[in-house]
Amino acid sequence: EAAEKEGYEHFMIKEIHEQPKGVSETLLRRLDKEEKVTLDGIKLTKEDLDNINKVYIVACGTAYHAGLVGRYAIEKFAKIPVEVDVASEFRYRDPFVDDKTLFIAISQSGETLDTLAALREAKRKGARVLSVVNVVGSSVARESDDVFYTWAGPEIAVASTKAYTTQLVAMYLVALHMASVKGTITEEQYKEKVNELKTMPDKIQKILDNQTKIQHLADGQFNNEKVFFMGRGLDVHVAHEGSLKLKEISYINSFAIAAGELKHGTIALIEDGTLVVALATQDHLYDKMLSNIQEVRARGAFVVGVAKEGNKEIEKTADVVLYIPDTLDQLTPILSVIPLQLLSYYIAVARGCDVDKPKNLAKSVTVE
Ligand code: G6P
Repeated sequence: EAAEKEGYEHFMIKEIHEQPKGVSETLLRRLDKEEKVTLDGIKLTKEDLDNINKVYIVACGTAYHAGLVGRYAIEKFAKIPVEVDVASEFRYRDPFVDDKTLFIAISQSGETLDTLAALREAKRKGARVLSVVNVVGSSVARESDDVFYTWAGPEIAVASTKAYTTQLVAMYLVALHMASVKGTITEEQYKEKVNELKTMPDKIQKILDNQTKIQHLADGQFNNEKVFFMGRGLDVHVAHEGSLKLKEISYINSFAIAAGELKHGTIALIEDGTLVVALATQDHLYDKMLSNIQEVRARGAFVVGVAKEGNKEIEKTADVVLYIPDTLDQLTPILSVIPLQLLSYYIAVARGCDVDKPKNLAKSVTVE
């Protein structure tokens, strides 16, 4: 096992560091000579897409969080309405699914029982099934009409990291491909996004190279028993993933909210020293986030902001700011999750937790 960890203390930190490679594998294998996205021979023609009036994305855990970002990308780029659901709810809900539905299952292992059952239910109702899967030849992959693999490589740690970032890339590629086939995006916009996606491995690497600040932060904050993550727009989805990561491996009571909902309940729980992680990467929501940060600071919270490099205004309100390299607002989740993964990891290590094998959790949940 030590050899497999290649000098890292845990699989989780090794896998966090493997993200530049995983992301570039998932991405570069899918760009042809003209830098056009190819979906591994998956045929989604204009006629197919014109026949689809809805996309349903279904998954569990971290993969569900990738699905939330996927919804944003498909709606924004391809202009098709998308519903996202957790598999255990979808399968018992009698959802509106028919032969005009494209059903997308996202799963690292491809063996999660609820996801598989949801997929079967969607097929039964006539949907076309596309899966985004990491493990080649897994049950979800085998039972789908089309499979789009995330080439993250084996993920051993229970807490998912590189599977998530590669799932995000896969969903952006699916969305961009659909948009280009449907003609809902200009050539220029398409190129801008593909070019920016190509910078992601280097930008992730840059965050990893500067992780000392996050380690120090974790050393000062690991004793917190209550942590809130908040954001607006795309940042909410990353807040949910950051919160899940933290509770999974450190057993801290953490949860995530849309910052606009603070006043409707959660603010009542903020007290002296409560740790709040505030994501503020979306330009059009930046000022609103600064106000939310002020609101929790006024009640004694210790605020860790996450913002794009250059947006320094946040330093006036947050206690600590973790910067991500500048990128398109639409693509920030691929970068903003990295500091949150590192923060969770170092907090769990400082608390002496069994990071790779947290209690009560399994890597792949094959029971209901
Ligand atoms: C378990 C794992 C999570 C994972 C979820 C879904 O809960 O601990 O890390 O996100 O299952 O798994 P899947 O393999 O379907 O992505």
